[in-house]
Amino acid sequence: MLLTIAFSSHFPAFFPQIPQYRFRCQCCSLVPGNGFQTERGLEFDTGGAFYRRESATGRDLGVLAASLQKKVSGSLRVLDALCGCGIRSLRYLKEAEADFVVANDGNECYGSTIVENLSRVCVKEEKRWVVTHLEANRVMTDYYLQKSFFDFIDVDSFGSDSSFLRSAINSLKFGGLLYVTSTDGFSSAGHRPHHSLAAYGAYVRHTPYSNEIGLRMLIGGVVREASVLGYHVTPLFSYYAYHGPVFRVLLRLNRGKVHDSRHYGFIGHCHQCGNCNEFSWDQLGQFSCSCSVSKVSNSLKVSGPLWTGPLHDAAYLTDMLDLAKEWGWIGCDGKDSLEKLIKLMVDESDPRLPSGYIKLDEMASRAKINIPPLRTLMSAMHKKGYAVSRSHITTKAIKTNCPMTEFISIAKELLPVSVS
Ligand SMILES: C[S@@+](CC[C@H](N)C(=O)[O-])C[C@H]1O[C@@H](n2cnc3c(N)ncnc32)[C@H](O)[C@@H]1O
Ligand SMILES: [Zn+2]
Repeated sequence: MLLTIAFSSHFPAFFPQIPQYRFRCQCCSLVPGNGFQTERGLEFDTGGAFYRRESATGRDLGVLAASLQKKVSGSLRVLDALCGCGIRSLRYLKEAEADFVVANDGNECYGSTIVENLSRVCVKEEKRWVVTHLEANRVMTDYYLQKSFFDFIDVDSFGSDSSFLRSAINSLKFGGLLYVTSTDGFSSAGHRPHHSLAAYGAYVRHTPYSNEIGLRMLIGGVVREASVLGYHVTPLFSYYAYHGPVFRVLLRLNRGKVHDSRHYGFIGHCHQCGNCNEFSWDQLGQFSCSCSVSKVSNSLKVSGPLWTGPLHDAAYLTDMLDLAKEWGWIGCDGKDSLEKLIKLMVDESDPRLPSGYIKLDEMASRAKINIPPLRTLMSAMHKKGYAVSRSHITTKAIKTNCPMTEFISIAKELLPVSVS
């Protein structure tokens, strides 16, 4: 039982980790298909390709963004570089009304499934889509060399494979959108700092807000690659999903370098006082936490360089939400709704909010108190003039510019007074 892979020597590195590849025969006749699935009313066949129903929200966000892009640029050329069964390509064609989609997956065995899925939208002869089985860097570089650029590139990769970033940026139009992925929760949690350094150029250490660090590590990696090529990028939204975990970021590519490192620096977590500190490049060698004024803070763990700027663009998210309403996607998906997610992201976009979040159980264990109701806590912090929002990453945390000690006193003031 051997897997036939059409290309490069480094491609198969991922495959042994994915169970379904272990029992794939050469002619692909033993594909254990998940069968037919439906997403936003569209039926498709997974054909045994890697497919996760839980990733539908990430696909929803991508389709909304691609559709907005079509409104801005007038046409929409999409490259779905690691397309699996082609569900994203199908949705970009049907829902975002893409004019042309390249659906590429390195695994040739998915070919007929992808073709059948895309044929549900339009026949091959209409030339609105093409299916290829090249290594992702190869397909992107081929289009770049032909000067055939894209409005939207989706790189739905595994792990922390940052090798796709440069070729993706190269094959994107200026003003185009890059939707990138990391599923490397070990690196963002600080368990593999040398690995994150190699992949994203960031030495990442453990923090209580590691899943936000994962998004900042990924954005930082794209910022760096874009700057190597003489461009700069703006994050439009950043999305963390627990399953996987999956870190997804949508960025706009802009012409020209920006000699401004304001949003690309270092994040320090002080385990003594619990504060998150941001440091700029000109503070190198002088990093310390205010709890140990001007002394070397042994309690400070610094990670970076990472993206320290806004995770999202609130105006862009509002346009996405309006479009979702127009499409009838709002109010029909219960508790974990798309509306709730986008609204949380809008709240997180408050420019006064620094990196990181405070986990309520961490605050409670430092204060040795029970956690007051979240709403009451947030409203008390607002009244004291602090910026505060929930985090889309975890329900049991808040983002705030309020220092931990002050947060603890506010929480204590809210506790019922015991009558002796
Ligand atoms: C996470 S899955 C894609 C899932 C799909 N985008 C979806 O939303 O359901 C990643 C896919 O990338 C393919 N792949 C992995 N490494 C690749 C590479 N270097 N070039 C092209 N395809 C690759 C795998 O065959 C797999 O189908
Ligand atoms: Zn401190």
